[in-house]
Amino acid sequence: MTSTLLHHIGELVTNDPARDGLLGIVEDAALVIEGGTVAWVGPAADAPEADEAYDAGGRAVLPGFVDSHSHLVFAGDRAGEFAARMAGESYAAGGIRTTVAATREATDEQLTSHVARLVQEMNRQGTTTLEIKSGYGLTTRDEARSLAIARQFTDETTFLGAHVVPEGSDPAAYVELVTGPMLEAAVPHARWIDAFCERGAFDGDQARAVLEAGRAVGLQGRLHANQLGPGPGVRLAAELGLLAVDHCTYLDDVDVDALRDSGTIATLLPGVEFSTRQPYPDARRLLDAGVRVALATDCNPGSCFTSSIPLCIALAVREMGMTPAEAVHAVTQRGADALGRDDVGALAPGRRADLVLLDAPTHVHLAYRPGVPLVSGVWQAGRPT
Ligand code: NIG
Ligand code: FE
Repeated sequence: MTSTLLHHIGELVTNDPARDGLLGIVEDAALVIEGGTVAWVGPAADAPEADEAYDAGGRAVLPGFVDSHSHLVFAGDRAGEFAARMAGESYAAGGIRTTVAATREATDEQLTSHVARLVQEMNRQGTTTLEIKSGYGLTTRDEARSLAIARQFTDETTFLGAHVVPEGSDPAAYVELVTGPMLEAAVPHARWIDAFCERGAFDGDQARAVLEAGRAVGLQGRLHANQLGPGPGVRLAAELGLLAVDHCTYLDDVDVDALRDSGTIATLLPGVEFSTRQPYPDARRLLDAGVRVALATDCNPGSCFTSSIPLCIALAVREMGMTPAEAVHAVTQRGADALGRDDVGALAPGRRADLVLLDAPTHVHLAYRPGVPLVSGVWQAGRPT
């Protein structure tokens, strides 16, 4: 088996709890990769011999980013809706139906090549693991094909038939469909099940019915909750012991306590607030209360069309009270935690050798130099992509 030495690393973010600080940083570091996984990490001066060597040129090296929330299977865009918002309109869940119509009309080939383009766009910005949801099909056939397409790009696929009630459908009958035949068609292609628990989408009882039906057939739950206003979603997620609940923009003290007590990860999606002009979620309050916080893009054509984890880091630091270290941790180790993955999110022996090289000396530059394309190399399973 060939071993590869990556040396002359200015700052290595390991996320190894056995090392100092939240990020387990090693300065003047080296890393050895064997068979696609990390075999050794430490100071460059102590590095073992390897078959081949790669000079990182003093750059910072971080674990590959884990984007635990995206909606990449769609057709068309909603740039007009975005422009109207920036001229004073507000965001509403109903806009989803515009994308549903375009997605149903697209061919499998069109949808697949569009997802491929977006995945490549994410990868160029450092994302090496991602989750993809369905939710723009909303018929049994269109949800199943959305998930089958998503599955070509990731194992982390999420059935989101409960995104919105489609035009002309009765809400109760639609929940029956989502928890019955649509779920059955989704199961072979999905690992997770999700619902949009929000005014204009699904209420707490409907979201519970969807998550429980998914659990009964082996899918794990995640939830969109408290995005556009206060609601029952975050408490429901905590009560059901979900691994993660996403958005968490409007929280009261009971919600925060519920998250802390359940250990459910709050996945914050700052690109959404950037693109909807809503208030940012208060990451500082959550962290100070002892809640685990992840960050993700939510890349979708409506509420947030960014594929950039570096942008999310910069927004979370500038607008949500996170330190650069907390934000980097939230897109690496916590992103992995939010997907129940222990093979990615850190650079320690045994983890997959997914890493990001920055054209910068430290991770802080990701927030310090917003909008600058600092990601100069991305490796997946020990190889440059
Ligand atoms: O996560 N909140 C629900 N779904 C997406 C938005 C989808 C859309 O507007 O098309 C979100 O923000
Ligand atoms: Fe979303």
